[in-house]
Amino acid sequence: MTILPSPHSGIRGRTILTGDRPTGQLHLGHYAGSLKARVDLQEHNEQFVLIADLQALTDNAGNPGKVRSSVRELVLDYLAVGIDPTKSRIIRQSRIPELAELTMLYMNLVSVARLERNPTTKSEIEQRAFTGGVPSGFLCYPVSQAADITAFDADLVPAGADQAPILEIANEIVERMNRAGGAGTLRRAELMLSAGARLPGVDGRGKMSKSAGNAILLSDDEAAIRNKVMAMYTDPDHLRVSDPGRVEGNVVFAMLDAFDPDTAEVEALKQHYRAGGLGDMALKRRLEPILQELIAPIRERRAELALDPDVYHRVLDASTEIARERAGRVLGRVRAAFGLD
Ligand code: TRP
Repeated sequence: MTILPSPHSGIRGRTILTGDRPTGQLHLGHYAGSLKARVDLQEHNEQFVLIADLQALTDNAGNPGKVRSSVRELVLDYLAVGIDPTKSRIIRQSRIPELAELTMLYMNLVSVARLERNPTTKSEIEQRAFTGGVPSGFLCYPVSQAADITAFDADLVPAGADQAPILEIANEIVERMNRAGGAGTLRRAELMLSAGARLPGVDGRGKMSKSAGNAILLSDDEAAIRNKVMAMYTDPDHLRVSDPGRVEGNVVFAMLDAFDPDTAEVEALKQHYRAGGLGDMALKRRLEPILQELIAPIRERRAELALDPDVYHRVLDASTEIARERAGRVLGRVRAAFGLD
Protein backbone atom coordinates (compact mmCIF):
# COMPACT_ATOMS: atom_id res chain seq x y z
CA MET A 1 0.00 0.00 0.00
CA THR A 2 1.30 3.45 -0.89
CA ILE A 3 1.89 5.52 2.20
CA LEU A 4 1.17 9.19 1.69
CA PRO A 5 2.81 11.83 3.86
CA SER A 6 0.61 12.39 6.86
CA PRO A 7 -0.68 15.89 7.50
CA HIS A 8 -1.94 14.69 10.87
CA SER A 9 1.22 13.64 12.58
CA GLY A 10 1.30 16.81 14.69
CA ILE A 11 -2.02 16.07 16.37
CA ARG A 12 -1.54 14.35 19.71
CA GLY A 13 -3.33 13.78 22.93
CA ARG A 14 -6.77 14.72 21.65
CA THR A 15 -10.03 12.85 22.11
CA ILE A 16 -11.36 12.34 18.62
CA LEU A 17 -14.79 11.26 17.47
CA THR A 18 -15.68 10.51 13.87
CA GLY A 19 -18.64 8.69 12.48
CA ASP A 20 -20.26 7.20 9.41
CA ARG A 21 -23.80 6.30 8.60
CA PRO A 22 -23.98 2.63 7.68
CA THR A 23 -25.75 2.85 4.33
CA GLY A 24 -23.35 1.01 2.04
CA GLN A 25 -19.76 0.04 1.43
CA LEU A 26 -17.02 2.63 1.58
CA HIS A 27 -15.18 3.92 -1.45
CA LEU A 28 -12.04 5.83 -2.44
CA GLY A 29 -13.67 9.15 -1.55
CA HIS A 30 -14.06 7.96 2.04
CA TYR A 31 -10.51 6.66 1.97
CA ALA A 32 -9.04 9.99 0.84
CA GLY A 33 -11.39 12.13 2.92
CA SER A 34 -11.38 10.36 6.26
CA LEU A 35 -10.21 6.76 6.55
CA LYS A 36 -6.56 7.48 5.87
CA ALA A 37 -6.59 10.27 8.45
CA ARG A 38 -8.14 7.95 11.04
CA VAL A 39 -5.35 5.44 10.55
CA ASP A 40 -2.84 8.22 11.25
CA LEU A 41 -4.74 9.82 14.11
CA GLN A 42 -5.19 6.60 16.08
CA GLU A 43 -1.45 6.50 16.87
CA HIS A 44 -1.23 9.44 19.26
CA ASN A 45 -4.82 10.21 20.20
CA GLU A 46 -7.78 8.52 21.76
CA GLN A 47 -10.09 7.90 18.85
CA PHE A 48 -13.71 6.78 18.75
CA VAL A 49 -15.08 5.65 15.39
CA LEU A 50 -18.84 5.59 15.53
CA ILE A 51 -21.08 3.50 13.30
CA ALA A 52 -24.13 5.75 13.38
CA ASP A 53 -26.84 3.18 12.74
CA LEU A 54 -29.55 5.11 14.60
CA GLN A 55 -28.78 8.15 12.48
CA ALA A 56 -28.91 5.98 9.34
CA LEU A 57 -32.38 4.81 10.34
CA THR A 58 -33.68 8.38 10.48
CA ASP A 59 -33.95 8.28 6.69
CA ASN A 60 -33.91 4.52 6.17
CA ALA A 61 -36.59 3.30 8.54
CA GLY A 62 -38.24 1.58 5.60
CA ASN A 63 -35.08 -0.34 4.83
CA PRO A 64 -33.59 -1.60 8.09
CA GLY A 65 -31.99 -4.57 6.32
CA LYS A 66 -29.71 -2.24 4.41
CA VAL A 67 -28.59 -0.50 7.58
CA ARG A 68 -28.04 -3.78 9.37
CA SER A 69 -25.89 -5.33 6.64
CA SER A 70 -23.99 -2.06 6.16
CA VAL A 71 -22.89 -2.11 9.81
CA ARG A 72 -20.97 -5.28 9.06
CA GLU A 73 -19.60 -3.86 5.81
CA LEU A 74 -18.32 -0.80 7.69
CA VAL A 75 -16.52 -2.91 10.28
CA LEU A 76 -14.81 -4.84 7.47
CA ASP A 77 -13.89 -1.65 5.61
CA TYR A 78 -12.45 -0.09 8.78
CA LEU A 79 -10.29 -3.07 9.64
CA ALA A 80 -9.20 -3.58 6.04
CA VAL A 81 -7.83 -0.03 5.71
CA GLY A 82 -5.93 -0.32 8.97
CA ILE A 83 -8.16 1.14 11.65
CA ASP A 84 -6.87 -0.97 14.51
CA PRO A 85 -9.43 -1.97 17.16
CA THR A 86 -6.70 -2.06 19.79
CA LYS A 87 -5.93 1.61 19.05
CA SER A 88 -9.31 3.01 17.99
CA ARG A 89 -12.62 2.28 19.65
CA ILE A 90 -15.03 1.18 16.96
CA ILE A 91 -18.51 1.58 18.40
CA ARG A 92 -22.07 1.05 17.23
CA GLN A 93 -24.45 3.85 18.15
CA SER A 94 -27.47 1.64 18.89
CA ARG A 95 -25.48 -0.39 21.42
CA ILE A 96 -25.01 2.64 23.65
CA PRO A 97 -28.41 3.53 25.11
CA GLU A 98 -26.86 6.43 27.02
CA LEU A 99 -26.74 8.24 23.67
CA ALA A 100 -30.51 8.00 23.35
CA GLU A 101 -31.09 9.44 26.80
CA LEU A 102 -28.66 12.28 26.17
CA THR A 103 -30.49 13.04 22.92
CA MET A 104 -33.80 13.15 24.74
CA LEU A 105 -32.43 15.64 27.27
CA TYR A 106 -30.63 17.81 24.71
CA MET A 107 -33.81 18.10 22.65
CA ASN A 108 -35.07 20.45 25.34
CA LEU A 109 -32.29 22.87 24.50
CA VAL A 110 -32.74 23.15 20.73
CA SER A 111 -35.74 24.79 19.09
CA VAL A 112 -37.56 23.31 16.12
CA ALA A 113 -36.79 26.53 14.21
CA ARG A 114 -33.08 26.08 14.91
CA LEU A 115 -33.23 22.57 13.46
CA GLU A 116 -35.25 23.70 10.45
CA ARG A 117 -32.65 26.39 9.65
CA ASN A 118 -29.78 23.90 9.54
CA PRO A 119 -28.42 24.09 5.96
CA THR A 120 -27.11 20.52 6.00
CA THR A 121 -30.35 18.84 6.99
CA LYS A 122 -32.23 21.32 4.80
CA SER A 123 -30.42 20.22 1.66
CA GLU A 124 -30.65 16.58 2.70
CA ILE A 125 -34.41 16.98 3.06
CA GLU A 126 -34.58 18.45 -0.44
CA GLN A 127 -32.56 15.57 -1.89
CA ARG A 128 -34.56 12.90 -0.14
CA ALA A 129 -38.05 14.14 -0.97
CA PHE A 130 -39.57 12.18 1.94
CA THR A 131 -42.99 10.86 1.10
CA GLY A 132 -45.32 11.37 4.04
CA GLY A 133 -43.32 14.23 5.52
CA VAL A 134 -39.95 14.64 7.20
CA PRO A 135 -39.55 12.14 10.06
CA SER A 136 -39.10 14.04 13.31
CA GLY A 137 -36.15 11.75 14.01
CA PHE A 138 -34.49 13.04 10.87
CA LEU A 139 -35.00 16.68 11.77
CA CYS A 140 -33.51 15.90 15.19
CA TYR A 141 -30.51 13.86 14.11
CA PRO A 142 -28.17 16.82 14.72
CA VAL A 143 -29.22 16.67 18.38
CA SER A 144 -28.45 12.97 18.46
CA GLN A 145 -25.11 13.73 16.82
CA ALA A 146 -24.43 16.27 19.58
CA ALA A 147 -24.94 13.38 21.98
CA ASP A 148 -22.44 11.28 20.00
CA ILE A 149 -19.85 14.02 20.19
CA THR A 150 -20.29 15.03 23.82
CA ALA A 151 -20.81 11.55 25.30
CA PHE A 152 -17.14 10.62 25.03
CA ASP A 153 -15.72 14.04 25.93
CA ALA A 154 -14.47 14.43 22.36
CA ASP A 155 -12.62 17.67 21.68
CA LEU A 156 -11.88 17.11 17.99
CA VAL A 157 -14.22 16.02 15.21
CA PRO A 158 -12.58 15.41 11.83
CA ALA A 159 -15.31 15.77 9.20
CA GLY A 160 -16.38 17.59 6.05
CA ALA A 161 -17.54 21.19 5.98
CA ASP A 162 -21.15 19.96 5.78
CA GLN A 163 -20.83 18.88 9.40
CA ALA A 164 -20.02 22.42 10.62
CA PRO A 165 -23.65 23.47 11.26
CA ILE A 166 -24.14 20.28 13.28
CA LEU A 167 -21.08 20.93 15.38
CA GLU A 168 -22.34 24.44 15.96
CA ILE A 169 -25.54 23.05 17.45
CA ALA A 170 -23.49 20.64 19.56
CA ASN A 171 -21.41 23.47 20.97
CA GLU A 172 -24.50 25.54 21.74
CA ILE A 173 -25.73 22.59 23.77
CA VAL A 174 -22.34 22.42 25.51
CA GLU A 175 -22.60 26.08 26.48
CA ARG A 176 -26.15 25.74 27.79
CA MET A 177 -25.25 22.65 29.79
CA ASN A 178 -22.14 24.22 31.24
CA ARG A 179 -24.11 27.26 32.34
CA ALA A 180 -26.70 25.03 33.99
CA GLY A 181 -24.47 22.33 35.45
CA GLY A 182 -21.08 23.99 35.87
CA ALA A 183 -18.11 24.45 33.58
CA GLY A 184 -17.02 20.82 33.57
CA THR A 185 -20.33 19.34 32.54
CA LEU A 186 -19.56 18.95 28.83
CA ARG A 187 -16.52 19.47 26.68
CA ARG A 188 -16.46 21.69 23.59
CA ALA A 189 -15.35 20.09 20.34
CA GLU A 190 -13.59 21.59 17.36
CA LEU A 191 -14.17 20.59 13.76
CA MET A 192 -11.12 19.48 11.83
CA LEU A 193 -11.82 19.76 8.12
CA SER A 194 -10.73 16.80 6.03
CA ALA A 195 -7.53 17.48 4.12
CA GLY A 196 -7.79 17.98 0.39
CA ALA A 197 -10.73 18.51 -1.89
CA ARG A 198 -13.58 16.07 -2.06
CA LEU A 199 -12.87 13.32 -4.52
CA PRO A 200 -15.07 13.59 -7.63
CA GLY A 201 -16.97 10.62 -9.02
CA VAL A 202 -15.44 8.74 -11.97
CA ASP A 203 -18.07 10.35 -14.24
CA GLY A 204 -17.04 13.87 -13.19
CA ARG A 205 -20.56 14.62 -11.99
CA GLY A 206 -20.31 15.78 -8.41
CA LYS A 207 -18.62 13.98 -5.59
CA MET A 208 -17.96 10.27 -5.50
CA SER A 209 -20.93 8.41 -4.08
CA LYS A 210 -22.05 4.83 -4.17
CA SER A 211 -25.68 5.75 -4.77
CA ALA A 212 -24.71 7.89 -7.79
CA GLY A 213 -22.94 4.82 -9.23
CA ASN A 214 -19.71 6.74 -9.80
CA ALA A 215 -17.58 5.29 -7.02
CA ILE A 216 -14.54 3.05 -6.90
CA LEU A 217 -15.28 0.78 -3.95
CA LEU A 218 -12.65 -0.52 -1.55
CA SER A 219 -13.93 -4.00 -2.44
CA ASP A 220 -13.76 -3.54 -6.24
CA ASP A 221 -11.80 -6.22 -8.09
CA GLU A 222 -8.96 -5.54 -10.49
CA ALA A 223 -11.13 -5.58 -13.61
CA ALA A 224 -13.69 -3.21 -12.09
CA ILE A 225 -10.95 -0.77 -11.12
CA ARG A 226 -9.40 -0.96 -14.59
CA ASN A 227 -12.74 -0.38 -16.31
CA LYS A 228 -13.56 2.56 -14.08
CA VAL A 229 -10.16 4.17 -14.67
CA MET A 230 -10.41 3.67 -18.42
CA ALA A 231 -13.90 5.18 -18.49
CA MET A 232 -12.94 8.11 -16.24
CA TYR A 233 -14.10 11.57 -17.24
CA THR A 234 -11.24 13.77 -18.48
CA ASP A 235 -11.66 16.80 -20.74
CA PRO A 236 -14.34 16.23 -23.38
CA ASP A 237 -12.67 18.82 -25.65
CA HIS A 238 -9.33 17.05 -25.55
CA LEU A 239 -9.89 15.11 -28.76
CA ARG A 240 -6.39 14.66 -30.11
CA VAL A 241 -3.27 13.99 -28.08
CA SER A 242 -1.74 17.17 -29.49
CA ASP A 243 -4.68 19.32 -28.28
CA PRO A 244 -4.22 21.37 -25.12
CA GLY A 245 -6.18 19.77 -22.28
CA ARG A 246 -7.96 21.02 -19.17
CA VAL A 247 -6.78 19.90 -15.76
CA GLU A 248 -9.61 21.47 -13.76
CA GLY A 249 -12.58 19.12 -13.53
CA ASN A 250 -10.46 16.32 -14.97
CA VAL A 251 -11.07 13.31 -12.75
CA VAL A 252 -7.78 11.59 -13.61
CA PHE A 253 -5.85 14.58 -12.30
CA ALA A 254 -8.02 14.78 -9.20
CA MET A 255 -7.13 11.14 -8.52
CA LEU A 256 -3.43 11.71 -9.17
CA ASP A 257 -3.52 14.70 -6.81
CA ALA A 258 -5.07 12.49 -4.15
CA PHE A 259 -3.04 9.32 -4.56
CA ASP A 260 0.15 9.82 -6.58
CA PRO A 261 3.00 10.35 -4.10
CA ASP A 262 5.20 12.01 -6.75
CA THR A 263 3.65 15.47 -6.62
CA ALA A 264 6.45 17.09 -8.64
CA GLU A 265 5.85 14.65 -11.49
CA VAL A 266 2.09 15.27 -11.32
CA GLU A 267 2.75 19.01 -11.64
CA ALA A 268 4.95 18.37 -14.68
CA LEU A 269 2.22 16.20 -16.22
CA LYS A 270 -0.32 18.97 -15.68
CA GLN A 271 1.87 21.45 -17.54
CA HIS A 272 2.41 18.99 -20.36
CA TYR A 273 -1.33 18.23 -20.55
CA ARG A 274 -2.24 21.91 -20.63
CA ALA A 275 0.28 22.59 -23.37
CA GLY A 276 -0.90 19.65 -25.48
CA GLY A 277 0.90 16.50 -26.47
CA LEU A 278 -0.09 14.31 -23.52
CA GLY A 279 -2.85 11.79 -24.11
CA ASP A 280 -5.56 10.68 -21.70
CA MET A 281 -4.48 7.08 -22.15
CA ALA A 282 -0.96 7.79 -20.90
CA LEU A 283 -2.41 9.46 -17.81
CA LYS A 284 -4.81 6.63 -17.14
CA ARG A 285 -2.00 4.13 -17.48
CA ARG A 286 -0.13 6.03 -14.80
CA LEU A 287 -3.14 6.17 -12.50
CA GLU A 288 -4.35 2.59 -12.82
CA PRO A 289 -1.45 0.81 -11.09
CA ILE A 290 -1.48 3.42 -8.31
CA LEU A 291 -5.11 2.61 -7.55
CA GLN A 292 -4.61 -1.13 -8.05
CA GLU A 293 -1.74 -1.11 -5.56
CA LEU A 294 -3.69 0.95 -3.08
CA ILE A 295 -6.84 -1.16 -3.19
CA ALA A 296 -5.46 -4.71 -3.67
CA PRO A 297 -4.25 -5.17 -0.08
CA ILE A 298 -7.43 -3.56 1.28
CA ARG A 299 -9.62 -5.84 -0.83
CA GLU A 300 -7.63 -8.94 0.11
CA ARG A 301 -7.66 -8.12 3.79
CA ARG A 302 -11.37 -7.44 3.58
CA ALA A 303 -12.10 -10.77 1.91
CA GLU A 304 -10.03 -12.60 4.53
CA LEU A 305 -11.78 -10.83 7.43
CA ALA A 306 -15.20 -11.53 5.94
CA LEU A 307 -14.56 -15.27 6.39
CA ASP A 308 -14.37 -14.90 10.16
CA PRO A 309 -17.89 -14.94 11.63
CA ASP A 310 -16.66 -13.60 14.98
CA VAL A 311 -14.71 -10.61 13.74
CA TYR A 312 -17.65 -8.35 14.20
CA HIS A 313 -18.32 -9.27 17.84
CA ARG A 314 -14.65 -9.26 18.68
CA VAL A 315 -14.36 -5.69 17.48
CA LEU A 316 -17.56 -4.30 18.94
CA ASP A 317 -18.00 -6.03 22.28
CA ALA A 318 -14.99 -4.73 24.19
CA SER A 319 -15.26 -1.19 22.86
CA THR A 320 -18.99 -1.03 23.61
CA GLU A 321 -18.34 -1.69 27.25
CA ILE A 322 -15.70 1.02 27.52
CA ALA A 323 -17.82 3.48 25.57
CA ARG A 324 -20.90 2.86 27.72
CA GLU A 325 -18.91 3.43 30.84
CA ARG A 326 -17.63 6.71 29.50
CA ALA A 327 -21.01 7.87 28.19
CA GLY A 328 -22.57 6.88 31.52
CA ARG A 329 -20.35 9.32 33.37
CA VAL A 330 -21.25 12.17 31.00
CA LEU A 331 -24.92 11.25 31.26
CA GLY A 332 -24.62 11.39 35.04
CA ARG A 333 -23.42 14.99 34.84
CA VAL A 334 -26.16 15.96 32.39
CA ARG A 335 -28.86 14.28 34.47
CA ALA A 336 -27.62 16.18 37.52
CA ALA A 337 -27.76 19.47 35.62
CA PHE A 338 -31.41 18.71 34.82
CA GLY A 339 -32.18 17.84 38.43
CA LEU A 340 -32.56 14.18 37.66
CA ASP A 341 -29.92 12.93 40.06
N1 TRP B 1 -23.51 12.92 10.09
C1 TRP B 1 -22.34 12.17 9.74
C2 TRP B 1 -22.40 11.86 8.25
O1 TRP B 1 -23.44 11.94 7.65
C3 TRP B 1 -22.20 10.88 10.50
C4 TRP B 1 -22.03 11.05 11.99
C5 TRP B 1 -22.85 10.58 12.96
C6 TRP B 1 -20.98 11.74 12.65
N2 TRP B 1 -22.40 10.92 14.20
C7 TRP B 1 -21.25 11.62 14.04
C8 TRP B 1 -19.86 12.44 12.21
C9 TRP B 1 -20.43 12.23 14.98
C10 TRP B 1 -19.03 13.03 13.17
C11 TRP B 1 -19.32 12.93 14.53
O2 TRP B 1 -21.40 11.52 7.67
